[in-house]
Amino acid sequence: MSMIFETHAHYNDEAFLEDREEIFAQLKDRGIGRVVNIASDLASIDECLDLAHRYPFMYCALGIHPSDSAPLTDELLAGIRDKLDDPRVVAVGEIGLDYYWDTPDRKIQKHWFEAQLEMAREADLPVVIHSREAAQDTMQLMQDHRAQEIGGVVHCYSYSLELAREFVKMGFFIGIGGVVTFKNARKLKEVAAGISLENIVLETDSPYLAPVPFRGKRNSSLNLPYVAEAIAQLRGISAEEVIARTEENAERLYRLR
Ligand code: NI
Repeated sequence: MSMIFETHAHYNDEAFLEDREEIFAQLKDRGIGRVVNIASDLASIDECLDLAHRYPFMYCALGIHPSDSAPLTDELLAGIRDKLDDPRVVAVGEIGLDYYWDTPDRKIQKHWFEAQLEMAREADLPVVIHSREAAQDTMQLMQDHRAQEIGGVVHCYSYSLELAREFVKMGFFIGIGGVVTFKNARKLKEVAAGISLENIVLETDSPYLAPVPFRGKRNSSLNLPYVAEAIAQLRGISAEEVIARTEENAERLYRLR
C-alpha cells in the first residue's frame, strides 16, 4: 500500500523539542511512511544525521541554507562533504538563494550555492534547492553548473508555471506544501494543476507553512493529507492517486529504489 512521502521537514527545530516523539508515533496512522529531514545551518548537520540514524523511517539531506551561509568556510564545507557518504544521507540541501531576507550579501549566497552544487555532483547526490525571490539567478547558476546532471527538487516552489516547466525540463521535481491550500495562492495552484504529476513531490517544510485549516500554527508531517487532498481537487483525481504517484516520485528524487 502506498504511503505519503514527506520530502522536506525540519524535526531538529526547537519547535519540536517537547513532542517530537509523539508526532513520530502518529505518522503511520496518518498514512505517512517516510520523512526526509533537511539541514539548514551548521548546528543542524549533526542533529539531522543523528535523527536519521535513530529512526528507520527517516533520511536526511545535509547542506547550508543561503540565509545561514555567512559562517561557511572551505574547511567547514569539507567537514560536511565527509558526512555525505553516510547511507542515511539522500541529498545535499537545503541550498540556494534567498533574496527576500537578502542576507548575507548576494555574492556570498551565490558562492556557497555554487560550491554546494559542485559538492553534490562530486558526491553523486541530488540537491534540495531553496529559492525565494531569486528566480533568475537560481536558474542561471543551475545552468552554469549543469544542474540537469545533478538532479533534485525545487522545494516550496513559489514561482510561475512557465518557470516550473523549465525546472522540470532540467529533470527537477517541484516540491509543493501547505501554501497550495491557501485561498490566495493562485500561482501555486496553477503549477499544481499544470505540470505533470510525475514531477510533483509532497512536503511540509515543518515547522513552517501549515496548510488550511491550521494556517499560522506549527506545522508537522501529520498535515500532509490536506496537501494531497488540495492537489487532488485541483487536478480532478483522487487523493490516493496523488499519494501513490508522489511517493514513487520521491523515491526517484532521493534514489531510494
Ligand atoms: Ni526548509
